[in-house]
Amino acid sequence: MRALIPAALGAAILAAAAYAADISYSRDVRPIIQRQCQGCHQPNVKSSDLDLTSYESLVAGGKHGPAVKPGAPADSLLVKYLTGEIRPQMPMGLPELPGEQIDAISEWIAQGAKDDTPAEARETVSLDKPITYSQPPVITSLAFSPDGMLLAVSGYREVLIIPVNSTAPSKRLVGLSERIHSLAFSADGDLLVAAGGTPARFGEVQIWDVRNAKMLRSVTLTNDTVFGASLAPDAKTVAVGCADNTVRILETATGKELHKIGNHENWVLGTVFGKNGKRIVSVGRDRAAKLTDAGSGAFLENINLLRGELNAVARNPLQEVVVIGGEERIPYVYLMDRPKNMKIADDTTMVHKLERQQGAIFALAWSSDGRQIAVAGASPEVTLYDAESGNRVGQCTGHAAGIYALAYSPDSKLLATGGFDGQVRLCETAGGKLAREFIPVPLETSSARRAEP
Ligand code: HEC
Repeated sequence: MRALIPAALGAAILAAAAYAADISYSRDVRPIIQRQCQGCHQPNVKSSDLDLTSYESLVAGGKHGPAVKPGAPADSLLVKYLTGEIRPQMPMGLPELPGEQIDAISEWIAQGAKDDTPAEARETVSLDKPITYSQPPVITSLAFSPDGMLLAVSGYREVLIIPVNSTAPSKRLVGLSERIHSLAFSADGDLLVAAGGTPARFGEVQIWDVRNAKMLRSVTLTNDTVFGASLAPDAKTVAVGCADNTVRILETATGKELHKIGNHENWVLGTVFGKNGKRIVSVGRDRAAKLTDAGSGAFLENINLLRGELNAVARNPLQEVVVIGGEERIPYVYLMDRPKNMKIADDTTMVHKLERQQGAIFALAWSSDGRQIAVAGASPEVTLYDAESGNRVGQCTGHAAGIYALAYSPDSKLLATGGFDGQVRLCETAGGKLAREFIPVPLETSSARRAEP
């Protein structure tokens, strides 16, 4: 049999064997830990005093001392907790790691537990040292607190909490995710969900106690950023779209995954709960808007006729009606429900087709009073529509480039907009006049740098 293996394939097998023999921290060990452990072992949430986000903190260990004894995997706490020799077995409350992952970690320790993290991949997050910016970061998400007093704005590796009458953040919520793609406050304003991740590494849902600027929990999901997170009206569950084509429903209080829903055939980029929180609408690159039962995770029905890829969804806060939009540049307003006797591929549940935009749609918002819809995307203007008639009622202009985030104030009088140019603009929803504009992050100017000793 051996002689039948072509020479090139034989070489590949030898190369694979050599690869396996030499276990690398940054290539083999860190991705496992990042994916499975950092939700509970990171600077913000340091279970048992153990931070597993860097080589240094892993080796330093937690309450029970160094987690790793180089050369001696059987005596290393890390391995003992992974195998269940010491309980509770890790990752706590989750399925145990596959044998080959535990073997790889053990082998890395046996080989001396060496650090080979490249300089550019070193974690730079520190809760004590705020991030410094030399230019404004792209804004990918915005949310008003329910009392209208605070605006949450995505930054790089953080969420900035900005009092609406100010331009300087009152709180900075620093986490592990480089990007925050969605933000949602609970109805009482106590909690903020921030979801995103670090591209091609991990996705994360962060749950913050806003008043105390404290991370309550972090859930790591998939190997890529997560998108379009939404919070149920009672704040008990969070839905999020993933690059593995699933929608995940998490329990807010514990971070536990309640459902992993696989009805989409491509990345899921937006989710929104129905009025009573019992159903979810999700949209994605497979062009579909799908209705799912949030309690059971069961698919209910397709909402739309398939056209272009969908990037965004928003619901009328007062009705079971959604607006969807994406690559095709046309926002469609649909009823969430199809009467039982209606045929598949019947488009009579479409309420409005709004006018075609200048560019792909990235963001949609529906005002709290149900009266207005805001649409924005690749082109630097936001267009406002009367939700009832579908007619254009205003435009907010002034951004220098594409817009990724829109949020109506709870009194529906202001619309916050943000995107590529890093500016937050607040415009009046009656007409679109600019009320205020600011950069949400402290910028390190060259003169400030010179002023330093
Ligand atoms: C859901 C949260 C959670 C996850 C996920 C999790 N841990 Fe833990 N971990 C804990 C808690 C809580 C403790 C303290 C347990 C106790 O002693 O009762 C702990 C303790 C530990 C300890 C002991 C530290 C010490 O010195 O006391 C190690 C080692 C550890 N975890 C490793 C891991 C590894 C490795 C992973 C990923 C494979 C992981 N954990 C994932 C919550 C978690």
